[in-house]
Amino acid sequence: MPFLSAEIDSLRQNADGALQSTTSGTDLEAWRVRYLGANGELKSIMARLKDAPREEKPHLGKCLNELKGHLEEAFESRKRSTSATAQVPTVDLTEPGISLGEGRRHILSRTIDEIVDVFARMGFSVADGPEIEDEWHNFTALNIPEGHPARDSSDNFYMGETGGVKRLLRTQTSTVQIRAMESQPPPLKVVAVGRVYRPDTHDATHFSMFHQIEGLCIDRALSLVDLKTALLQFARSYFGPEAEVRMRPSFFPFTEPSAEVDMKMHIRGELQWVEIGGCGMVDPAVLSAVGIDPEVWSGYAFGLGIERIAMRRYSISDIRWLFENDARFLRQF
Ligand code: DAH
Repeated sequence: MPFLSAEIDSLRQNADGALQSTTSGTDLEAWRVRYLGANGELKSIMARLKDAPREEKPHLGKCLNELKGHLEEAFESRKRSTSATAQVPTVDLTEPGISLGEGRRHILSRTIDEIVDVFARMGFSVADGPEIEDEWHNFTALNIPEGHPARDSSDNFYMGETGGVKRLLRTQTSTVQIRAMESQPPPLKVVAVGRVYRPDTHDATHFSMFHQIEGLCIDRALSLVDLKTALLQFARSYFGPEAEVRMRPSFFPFTEPSAEVDMKMHIRGELQWVEIGGCGMVDPAVLSAVGIDPEVWSGYAFGLGIERIAMRRYSISDIRWLFENDARFLRQF
């Protein structure tokens, strides 16, 4: 057996076989390093050429050069075919795939949309107002004069002054009543939804930000009957045909008379009374403040708490869960 010829043959065979089973660029590079690399198998056979018998050297040198050419060519051609197939991604359609999970709207957003939808069908249009308000819209025009305890700095988020006007985060959506009346002449029938802010200590039923929906209707000769009818109509469309409305006498500076609103709704299969907001006939002083003649026009208004409605309806016992954005909680609705 001539010197080295068995090694040359087996190197060729092994390298060819290994090249056939490469499938990626990484495999191919590993193959190149192993057979053609600076410390590779070809180099180590070539290093042994110096120990060959003199007369065999020319022939062996030729064989090794040939092997080198063969391996280099085989490598290049494999590289071309691997990158050609790599450009066509193969997709195994028999695999079940990874579920990415479906997103959904926040339970409060959905509640808001559903409630607004009911009022829209009842003929209310949607009004809007800023969350950073001035004292006129949050207090003065709503018949809450200077020095009134509701203006106390401990009950409001005051934000300093701009242009000589004190600003604060609105504490109620009743501000939008004033804005709506300032921007359009009566008759009008609007609802406004949005965030309100109060410096309350957070606990299961209090949060420093929550949502209200405000309703305002201004027309001729409106009475408490119209107010109660509107609330009842809402309750039955939203909570179901068995819902009921109860009004308990109360006080708000911007309505006279004023009442707390309770709605009777199904909670876990049982009809229960739930306190959900306040309401009343718009105080003549409020109409006058925005230049509407109280002798000609009358109005009713109401403000309902969105979180309260959602929490009772879906048996959510802690308001903080609504704002923690824990997907495990939100996914349930
Ligand atoms: N703004 C009141 C509150 O935040 C709720 C309210 C009561 C709104 C009576 C009204 C109303 O429009 O007429 O507690």
